[in-house]
Amino acid sequence: MNWPYPRYIAHRGGGRLAPENTLAALRAGHRRGYRMVEFDVMLSRDEVPMLMHDETLERTSSGHGLVCEQDAAALAGLDAGAWFGTEFAGEPVPRLDQAAALCRWLGLAANVEIKPAQGFEALTGRIVAAQAAQLWAGAELPPLLSSFSIVALWEARAVAPQLPRALLFDEVPADWRGLQERMGAVALNCSARHLRADTLATARAAGIPVACWTVNDVALAGQLFAAGVSALFTDALDVFDPAADRRDA
Ligand code: G3P
Ligand code: MG
Repeated sequence: MNWPYPRYIAHRGGGRLAPENTLAALRAGHRRGYRMVEFDVMLSRDEVPMLMHDETLERTSSGHGLVCEQDAAALAGLDAGAWFGTEFAGEPVPRLDQAAALCRWLGLAANVEIKPAQGFEALTGRIVAAQAAQLWAGAELPPLLSSFSIVALWEARAVAPQLPRALLFDEVPADWRGLQERMGAVALNCSARHLRADTLATARAAGIPVACWTVNDVALAGQLFAAGVSALFTDALDVFDPAADRRDA
């Protein structure tokens, strides 16, 4: 299976240890020994890729309303840490270029999940992929691009065909193989909860690595690895010890 990335991926940067999709989260993942992080990227109104999961600001920041209706400078001025804990107060909403610089500095591999707001699928795919190609130019390991939006992934492929893409599903559809071939996707990222044995068998037979989210249980992780899953995304950064993992060390 061609999976050049680590087996353990810190979900949303720092899982449960830090406010999601912040630079503090990336640092937290790195501190815990993770060598790869996943984070979500959405466009601001002025088309700047920012780390953000929800289309609305309320859950993870001091802002209100839609992310796509605020310029990057306004988003950067919000507090994306206080909701999680006072020690993170003042943590800004980072731009993708800041996250990329930190990942490269810390030696963290990245899964950039393209998370378009509704109606911005093509634009987000294009801008995020083009910027990612520049930001990781010359990197030993390119960022893995993924998205629930097939439209965004097609656009990513059009502007940065050299960057690896993963299909991303909650429930994997029956026709995923055809899509994977047409898209030239190198991996299948899917929910551990819905992963079917026949899907994994098909992927394995075709040499396509499968990465599962979100796995927070050691026993489940062991079962998935034993079954042939290549990597997992976790929020339980303190439960796993990737630095001690023979394959991740
Ligand atoms: O990319 C894997 C996982 O992050 C997908 O779900 O909602 O946490 O972005 P979500
Ligand atoms: Mg995500």
